[in-house]
Amino acid sequence: MAEFRKKTVQDVDVAGKIVLIRVDYNVPIKDGVIQEDMRISSSLSTIRYVLDKGARKVVLISHLGRPDGAYVPDMSLAPCAQRLGELLPDKVVRFSDMIYGQDAKDAVEALPEGGVILLENLRFVPDEEANSAEFAQEIVNATGAELFVQDGFAVIHRAHASTDAIARILPAVAGFLVEDEVSRLEGAMKDPARPLLVIVGGAKVSDKQPLIDKFLTIADKIAVGGKIAADGYVNSSPNVYVAEDFAEDGNGAKLDIGPISTKKIVDMIHESRTIVWNGTLGMVEDERFERGSLAIARAMGESSDMTIVGGGDTTGYVEKVLKQNGELTFDHISTGGGASLELLSGKTLPGLEILQDR
Ligand code: 3PG
Repeated sequence: MAEFRKKTVQDVDVAGKIVLIRVDYNVPIKDGVIQEDMRISSSLSTIRYVLDKGARKVVLISHLGRPDGAYVPDMSLAPCAQRLGELLPDKVVRFSDMIYGQDAKDAVEALPEGGVILLENLRFVPDEEANSAEFAQEIVNATGAELFVQDGFAVIHRAHASTDAIARILPAVAGFLVEDEVSRLEGAMKDPARPLLVIVGGAKVSDKQPLIDKFLTIADKIAVGGKIAADGYVNSSPNVYVAEDFAEDGNGAKLDIGPISTKKIVDMIHESRTIVWNGTLGMVEDERFERGSLAIARAMGESSDMTIVGGGDTTGYVEKVLKQNGELTFDHISTGGGASLELLSGKTLPGLEILQDR
């Protein structure tokens, strides 16, 4: 593990304070039901720690999905507050559908001491992604927060009001999840055992393209599958392999990588000493199209080399495979998608840089 350069909750006095914690509860929700809650369960140690150390109240802020500054009922964080309440049965856990203004202020004031309140999805307000200082100040005013803790590892590659502007207003330190993820991922990339293989899948092509380019100089091999490859991604660099065959549904939609590509990527895993995987290689929700991803999960899980998995869909999938295959192990399962890839590729993360140095 690399040494962590930033102050954490352990370096500051939280007693008697209202502590504002940025979490990343951007979890998959279907028909109001949370499909996978690793990002919520990973936030518990920081919440519990500050309350055990005498914090007066904890206010949580997060985004969910990409509602583009508009209210989208399906992207409400209300189900996450409910899940958090189940995970913290000994605490009062509430939800506020207002983020700032008098109603939010009343909700925080009405919260009993030692309680936790989650505010509604920050991205319902366009000012969040615009990194608005006024919006950040409104949140501080409504909540009465005296300390900001960044524990939303998965979002620290964004310079938004809740990751950047707010940390310019309040003293800002890291939570345990951010400390753990950054130390492990930086440690793994400091002097990686080679060959280093990066497997990229998933659907957010625009997010992945610049990262693939960045990895060209770091990785010995890059394998590209998933929707990116199915949509015809081309890269002529000799260390990039793009999936060449696909499993299709009855309408000709390419929904998984095919057997030739799967075998080639599994062979690459066997030949590599450090393997990073981000993005499922097919539509894993449908077992007809999970074969490629399952083969990769198995090959990595059986490997004794350094194995790192990141990305909301990928970690959820790997957790599911692990439950069914107890013999498989991974060195690090990251809560971050873009954040873990950016960190691994050596990019600077604004939400991390802005925190107080040790
Ligand atoms: C993620 O899922 O990677 C994080 O929650 C960040 O979400 P974003 O890519 O929409 O900013």
